[in-house]
Amino acid sequence: MSYAIQAEGLVKRYGNMVALDGVDLEVPVGKVIGVLGPNGAGKTTTVRILATLMRPDGGRATVGGYDVMKDPVRVRGLIGLTGQYASVDESLSGRENLVLLGRLLDMSKRNAKARAVELLERFELVDAADRPISTFSGGMRRRLDLAASLVGRPQVLYLDEPTTGLDPHARNEVWEVVRRLVADGTTVLLTTQYLEEADQLADRITVFDHGRVVAEGKPGELKRRVGGQTLQVRPTLASDLDEVGRILAELTGAAPARDLNTGLLTVPVADPMLVSALVRRLDGAGVAVDELGLRLPSLDEVFLALTGRPAEESKRNTQQNPIAERNVA
Ligand SMILES: Nc1ncnc2c1ncn2[C@@H]1O[C@H](COP(=O)(O)OP(=O)(O)OP(=O)(O)O)[C@@H](O)[C@H]1O
Ligand SMILES: [Mg+2]
Repeated sequence: MSYAIQAEGLVKRYGNMVALDGVDLEVPVGKVIGVLGPNGAGKTTTVRILATLMRPDGGRATVGGYDVMKDPVRVRGLIGLTGQYASVDESLSGRENLVLLGRLLDMSKRNAKARAVELLERFELVDAADRPISTFSGGMRRRLDLAASLVGRPQVLYLDEPTTGLDPHARNEVWEVVRRLVADGTTVLLTTQYLEEADQLADRITVFDHGRVVAEGKPGELKRRVGGQTLQVRPTLASDLDEVGRILAELTGAAPARDLNTGLLTVPVADPMLVSALVRRLDGAGVAVDELGLRLPSLDEVFLALTGRPAEESKRNTQQNPIAERNVA
């Protein structure tokens, strides 16, 4: 298998603070890796090292086979970066930003203009192309950021929290863009605090916590690693909750969790065959149910099992940093 990104034992310290403590990463060509972790886990630090914006204190990394420390110029020729914080110039229009970036990449005026038009069309920004960025919505800005990182047709794209702060509609738009890029063969390293985002987009997920990789695998594998499945039952009548709870406890040997708002009882199960036994018992007791099924644990549950903390706890602090990160398309 050929790898677009390989990193081994990356270490980064800020003074006494160890931001990365021996991170390994491997991303096959054309795949999407999701780097998932709470605030301060080391996601941006990793991206910056792989984008040659920062040197590691230990370990090594290659992108497209080029060493990020020995061959940074070659690496820069292969990559695009959409930083965590907007990298476009507010006072310029969308079109001007894209043309400027093309010119910085040594394109002729004509080529830079043509590339800008192509990207504005692709990101559905044609109508707004000549308005200053300051009038753009959050979703439009994010799309323009993405477009900006693609001016140089990168083979490897880093997206650092591309949808943080976006509403669900704008988030979906960004996801569509990422899917199209991947369909065209781009390798993507995406950092996110949203488990659902990693689940939606990534072929493999690496979970970071405190500068270390705490888990790695396909989304489904990670979910399974937490063990077993979850059985969910929703009795039709709220008055049956106690009875169903008793039956579940008897069959599984565990106390089911009950959500009074949704009327749902959930309990982990090791043996999927238990479902048929449950159906017989419910039938015998004359209890009707609206919902009954098995599911893999959610990535939220996986995160909790891996780190001992709920992922929700880490979703605070999403305001934008006033210091703009530069774009290295
Ligand atoms: N320039 C810096 N100087 C000192 N400490 C830093 C610097 N940049 C990052 N850190 C620290 O290094 C750790 C890792 O930071 P990093 O930005 O990589 O995390 P992150 O996973 O991207 O977090 P977030 O989700 O908040 O973006 C944090 O504890 C952070 O405070
Ligand atoms: Mg970050």
